Amino acid sequence: MPDANPPAGGALAFFIDLQPPEGDFGADVLAGLTKPQKTLDSKYFYDPAGSELFDAITEAPEYYLTRTEIALLDAIGPELRERAGPGAVVLEPGAGSSVKIHKLINALDAPSAFVGMDISGEHVKAACEEIAADYPQLTVGAVCHDFTQPLEVTALPLPQGKRLVFFPGSTIGNFELIGALDLLHVLRGWLRPGDAMLIGVDLRKDGAVLEAAYDDAGKVTAAFNYNLIKRINAELDGTIDASALIYRAHWNPYRSRVEMYLQADRDIAFTVAGQRFQLREQETIHTENSHKFTISTFQDLAARAGFDSVHAWTDPDQAFSIHWLEVGGEA
Ligand code: AVJ
Repeated sequence: MPDANPPAGGALAFFIDLQPPEGDFGADVLAGLTKPQKTLDSKYFYDPAGSELFDAITEAPEYYLTRTEIALLDAIGPELRERAGPGAVVLEPGAGSSVKIHKLINALDAPSAFVGMDISGEHVKAACEEIAADYPQLTVGAVCHDFTQPLEVTALPLPQGKRLVFFPGSTIGNFELIGALDLLHVLRGWLRPGDAMLIGVDLRKDGAVLEAAYDDAGKVTAAFNYNLIKRINAELDGTIDASALIYRAHWNPYRSRVEMYLQADRDIAFTVAGQRFQLREQETIHTENSHKFTISTFQDLAARAGFDSVHAWTDPDQAFSIHWLEVGGEA
């Protein structure tokens, strides 16, 4: 090819391994089960089986989030193109849904680069190679990184152009509010004045609709939770009898979140990594939170992280929102 500029069509322009410290599954599980309210960290759901179950959740009729966000991305494509302008550099923390990133790239006006990041090097490399193959004109890089940790973006070989952080899926809702604020701060640190973030945020709605979304009749979300117990039994030499645990999703309007639990239907005792635990009848293990916002509660949070809320879009039922945030003057 006469063109001297990298990349050769379809190949990754770079893969950078920032060697995120691996979360210590064993220590975290033991610490969580030792608390008065037993808890497990929802980030451990996503082993290969768990990731497949999550994909199945997104197809459940009750789980409106994914299909609503994708339809919304389609609907607002021309506006995104206008706002981003030509030559945008798209950064995706936790490179996840290939459908969504394809929609965004297709909508934009000749974006110059895409950089996917994920805590799993294998995963992010495969996902970004796919994008590089689909968009030979685009400079595509992959970074193995834990997006909750600071990142020196200036260290990445990024082309000129407006930076756009893409953070779909309402993943922000899985964090406690303080953690969500910290994460927004971290992501803001990747941006300069004039750059932007496009973030998907699920909205508050009727409790019954939310509880159904997180406890689908096909029991896929329940299986997603049981998979974490299987993982503990397999990897940490656990003896938890999953048949004693009932999966429950509870809408907590005071904290504006769906709380997910595994609840014992009888007293049980078990060991994990040689340590003994017991659950009394009705006692719960808290497995996940999914916070829900209104447009304005989310905008307030974004403002506290130093973002200006420039625009918010929702679907006709106001089930889900996508926000265009820009870097404000301070914070
Ligand atoms: C990780 C935010 C996409 O909270 O909706 C779905 C995870 N857990 N069903 C969410 C999840 C159970 C999900 N996100």
